[in-house]
Amino acid sequence: MGRITSGGGMLQSYKGIWPKLGQDVFIAPGAQIIGDVEIGSGSSIWFNCVLRGDVNKIRIGRNTNIQDGSVVHVESGGAATIIGDDVLIGHMALVHGTVLEDQAFVGMGAVTMDGCCIEGQGMLAAGALLTPGKRIKTAELWAGRPAKLIRTLRPEELAGLAKGTSHYAQMAQTYLTEYSDR
Ligand SMILES: CC(C)(COP(=O)(O)OP(=O)(O)OC[C@H]1O[C@@H](n2cnc3c(N)ncnc32)[C@H](O)[C@@H]1OP(=O)(O)O)[C@@H](O)C(=O)NCCC(=O)NCCS
Repeated sequence: MGRITSGGGMLQSYKGIWPKLGQDVFIAPGAQIIGDVEIGSGSSIWFNCVLRGDVNKIRIGRNTNIQDGSVVHVESGGAATIIGDDVLIGHMALVHGTVLEDQAFVGMGAVTMDGCCIEGQGMLAAGALLTPGKRIKTAELWAGRPAKLIRTLRPEELAGLAKGTSHYAQMAQTYLTEYSDR
């Protein structure tokens, strides 16, 4: 049997290991967090996400958001998925065996494959497919299937990344308050 979080989403054990949550983490209804997953304070996992830490671990920092319908998994015997602070992962993304450094951005519907890394303030565009082992450097924008570097980000876009994560961090606390009262 799973455990229900204050936000309404579920934690599940695998081989006796339960996910661990920091303070004020919002796990929305329909989300499933499984096994060796740790999530830092203020982060939010939105409706119908699946984070499956079974054959390797998943680590998530603080004030990160993983938006609705996204899937986070790991490489068996290879790359864990390590996600830093203030990371934004858009709706319906798939993050697999990947490192996302603090303030990295994964667009809606994008896919990252094993051994990839997105550095801080690196951006993967909506719908992109980042093939195994690729590295997006700070301030680079990659797009397409397979994803390629298309340009560097403008100053206003870099500022927009920070706004997006702080907006989601605030939204998460509003939801948590409302859903905890139910
Ligand atoms: C990449 C992105 C930032 C748009 O960049 P932009 O430079 O403003 O895009 P433009 O509309 O001016 O298009 C510029 C070129 O990039 C291409 N392009 C734009 N977005 C693209 C994408 N997501 N994938 C592939 N190519 C894209 C356009 O086709 C165009 O190509 P062309 O010059 O050959 O005609 C935007 O598409 C994106 O992915 N935003 C992320 C949104 C998101 O996922 N948010 C998370 C949920 S809150």
